Amino acid sequence: MNDQDRPRADIGVFGGSGFYSLAAEAETVKIETAWGPPSAPVAVAAFGSVRVAFLPRHGTGHRIPPHRVNYRANVDAMRQLGVRALVSPFAAGSLRPEIRPGEFVVCDQLVDRTWGRDSTFYDEFDDGPVHIPFAEPYDPRLRRIVLDAAAEVGAAAHDGGTVVVVNGPRFSTRAESRWHRESGWHVVNMTQSPEAPLAMEAGIPFVGIALVTDYDAGLDEDPGVEPVSQEAVFAVFEANLHKVRELLDAAIPRLAA
Ligand code: ADE
Repeated sequence: MNDQDRPRADIGVFGGSGFYSLAAEAETVKIETAWGPPSAPVAVAAFGSVRVAFLPRHGTGHRIPPHRVNYRANVDAMRQLGVRALVSPFAAGSLRPEIRPGEFVVCDQLVDRTWGRDSTFYDEFDDGPVHIPFAEPYDPRLRRIVLDAAAEVGAAAHDGGTVVVVNGPRFSTRAESRWHRESGWHVVNMTQSPEAPLAMEAGIPFVGIALVTDYDAGLDEDPGVEPVSQEAVFAVFEANLHKVRELLDAAIPRLAA
């Protein structure tokens, strides 16, 4: 598809575990990138006057594990559609008792513990070195909009927090989980990196919204809390998907402004 034929979108939204479609009436767009195919065709739909591009990062029906997602193709597909903001809802484990399953964390920091992923568009320096600043991985303006939208729809959302991104696909050991908590981090996930740094390299403002699905490896101070399981992550995400949709409905018009 050449540039003139490709539809445009204002906002991009990545789908995660259990979140595979955003709008019933959408135009399906197949996008090719220099990095290979994205995880799925992109669904572009109108939300009032705002055009939203939706791409499930694990593919339709969750075929692609976190370490095998083609993050470069996914972000580049959004760039080709011209999105001016990228919203990234994601399932996360909580590392603290006060951050409960069913709540959101609008993260402001990220720690990358992944390895072996294609995590940059600048694999070679054709025109000299490119090292992007990444001190603020999440766009402060988009974070504010999402927090305001959460308040409007009555969703519990924590303002700020650090997500530690593990490689997966296995969950953490108790020792790893304790180390993550003692380091001062708040939630754990498997996909925010390299999604966030690639968006930064592509120049697209990015906001990550953690939906807490579990208490990671369990809380030491409460042995009654079960360690996370895949079934629990999917079940809790599905039970709370309506909140993600409400939050996005409220945020989208403001994100496009
Ligand atoms: N995604 C959801 N829950 C998680 C956890 N506990 N660890 C890593 N990724 C997750």
